[in-house]
Amino acid sequence: MQQGEGSTLNEKIPPGMSTATRQEKPIKAHPDLSRAPVLIEARDVSVDFVGDDHPPARAVEGVSFTLREGEMLGIVGESGCGKTTLMLSLLRLLPAAGRIVSGQINFLGRDLLDLSEREMESVRWKNISMIFQGAMNALNPVRSIGDQISEAILCHDRYVSRSQVDDRVGELLEMVGISASRRDQYPHQYSGGMRQRAMIAMALACSPQVVIADEPTTALDVMVQAQILELLDQLRHRLGLAVILVTHDLGVVAEVCDSVLVMYGGVTAEYADVDTIFNHPRHPYTQQLLAAFPDLSNPQSRLISIPGYPPRLDDLPPGCRFAPRCNQVFERCHHERPALHRLEGNHLASCHLLER
Ligand SMILES: Nc1ncnc2c1ncn2[C@@H]1O[C@H](COP(=O)(O)OP(=O)(O)OP(=O)(O)O)[C@@H](O)[C@H]1O
Ligand code: SF4
Ligand SMILES: [Mg+2]
Repeated sequence: MQQGEGSTLNEKIPPGMSTATRQEKPIKAHPDLSRAPVLIEARDVSVDFVGDDHPPARAVEGVSFTLREGEMLGIVGESGCGKTTLMLSLLRLLPAAGRIVSGQINFLGRDLLDLSEREMESVRWKNISMIFQGAMNALNPVRSIGDQISEAILCHDRYVSRSQVDDRVGELLEMVGISASRRDQYPHQYSGGMRQRAMIAMALACSPQVVIADEPTTALDVMVQAQILELLDQLRHRLGLAVILVTHDLGVVAEVCDSVLVMYGGVTAEYADVDTIFNHPRHPYTQQLLAAFPDLSNPQSRLISIPGYPPRLDDLPPGCRFAPRCNQVFERCHHERPALHRLEGNHLASCHLLER
């Protein structure tokens, strides 16, 4: 493998700015969540993007995961691997061209894919809310932050009184570490970190059980990133929230997540608890990602990156999607898709090398 070319998972984080490094393992002790109630059980979810001028493009294929009460699930993978598409599928908020073509998304025993749009509306924000990728930059510049949080509450509960809304806005702001006295200020009067906190307050407006945070720290400086992650971590413990954290930063995952779904080219490369992913990864992509992670215990070591680029949806390799970049590739990989193998317990990985 050549060094210094291609992309790595940390490519969006400036050099040296990752919030953790390989040297900072071992992974933080995570609570045993195996007995916590299951909130979301996604099974074999596949999503296509359709268009008049091209055949359907499979952006997500056969992805499964389980999310339990109080759990923080990290979803990692390079740009374009389907993280946002998978998350939008959970809320059935895909763009017009997106189609969930198969699978189940069970939430507290109900398959969200069977619900009517009206039923789905009551799930969004009240049960599952989302901090959209880049949303803090989409705040309305001419409305105060307090107004925008009030709107989030009123959209989903028309019967709440004005004074209840005001109390709730103050409570939400304080919950995310912003003084309630700043409710009448406008987005430009907030720092980037405060705007992201306001987005988290909005996501919490209807007291959901699950919050999806799609790259909530991108574009924030490293100190503010750490504060936002700490806030999410505190909130999930305090409120018993389950959080799905989409990120490019493996350091972040090691720090706060309990389990990890590594996606590549729309499929599950590997899925396991955080300790397994970092200390016993079995999929070559996970192994190569970890090798591309800065190692401060050995400052002389050169940064290794994964050569090449993730596949385009309209040009997927016929066999394993990772084959063109895999350092363990062999003949079969070029023409046969690997199955998703169950290793020990809930550890899943899709690679021919793991066939028993
Ligand atoms: N509206 C759309 N129409 C057609 N293709 C789309 C659309 N939205 C996304 N895609 C394609 O689906 C694939 C997955 O995109 P997605 O945004 O889910 O990736 P991602 O992992 O979230 O990437 P990033 O890390 O850059 O946010 C990409 O190839 C993308 O080009
Ligand atoms: S199936 Fe082959 S190309 Fe794919 S990850 Fe495994 S060894 Fe690499
Ligand atoms: Mg995305």
